[in-house]
Amino acid sequence: MKLEAQNLTWSARQLPIVSDVSVSIKSGEMFGLIGPNGSGKSTLMRMLAGLSKPQKGVVELDGISLKQTSRRQIAQKLAFVEQQAETQDLIKVRDAVELGRTCWLSAISPWSAHDTYIVDTALRSVDMYHMANRSWHTLSGGERQRVHIARALAQEPSVLLLDEPTNHLDISYQVSILDLVTQLDTTTVVALHDLNQAFKCDRIGVMQAGKMIAIGTPEEILKPKFLEEVFGVCVHTLIDPNNGKTVLSFHSVSSGREHNMRQVI
Ligand SMILES: Nc1ncnc2c1ncn2[C@@H]1O[C@H](COP(=O)(O)OP(=O)(O)O)[C@@H](O)[C@H]1O
Ligand SMILES: [Mg+2]
Repeated sequence: MKLEAQNLTWSARQLPIVSDVSVSIKSGEMFGLIGPNGSGKSTLMRMLAGLSKPQKGVVELDGISLKQTSRRQIAQKLAFVEQQAETQDLIKVRDAVELGRTCWLSAISPWSAHDTYIVDTALRSVDMYHMANRSWHTLSGGERQRVHIARALAQEPSVLLLDEPTNHLDISYQVSILDLVTQLDTTTVVALHDLNQAFKCDRIGVMQAGKMIAIGTPEEILKPKFLEEVFGVCVHTLIDPNNGKTVLSFHSVSSGREHNMRQVI
């Protein structure tokens, strides 16, 4: 399913937070969103998900505006894991993931074994099946994050929006969740703060001060000089001896390049 945004604009008290952003995300594409803190990534994603209404511009799923789509229809097409996702404290892990099935249930299609199967599969894919009966409030931040991702997967969306999904995860789950997302056929938009993780995306959009200042492949975007301009840090590339792929290394501007080069060597 294609996700298209045209001229999206959102301001708070006259202050532009997202200005005139247009982007077209192809069916099945994994699209990364990068940019400094406060550059408008989460605000943009909330508009893409239909959670906040753009003051200008439209979001379309396969050519149909979200404005003309009911919440239930949107939920059948699109799932969103917010950066600060919260869930009612008193529920169990399995209940939280079952919520993902809500948009598919109705009087004529009540809960069935198929729904249980989808929930089980989603729990397993984020390695939370063994904790299905745990109370939500006993979970760590990383476990909660994995449950939110499972809830989104249980929704069986054509479009998946993930706002910094690896934020609270330890390195092993960062790798496995990102691999999982990469392998999905779903159209995916993922905001990432780890720029090395962004290499896994098909294309990357760069946000700066509310604007989408560049869109391109990881090879086009993840270049030291450009990243230095956007993020205000020194950036070097290294080659991973394990697979020959490029890895980015970051240093503060004040500590100086030559000093850092010695450290790297
Ligand atoms: N509802 C709001 N009211 C006022 N300012 C907001 C609101 N939502 C976001 N902002 C501000 O907009 C900027 C962009 O925020 P955000 O979209 O969360 O950026 P990012 O996800 O890139 O870190 C920040 O400076 C933030 O404080
Ligand atoms: Mg954010």
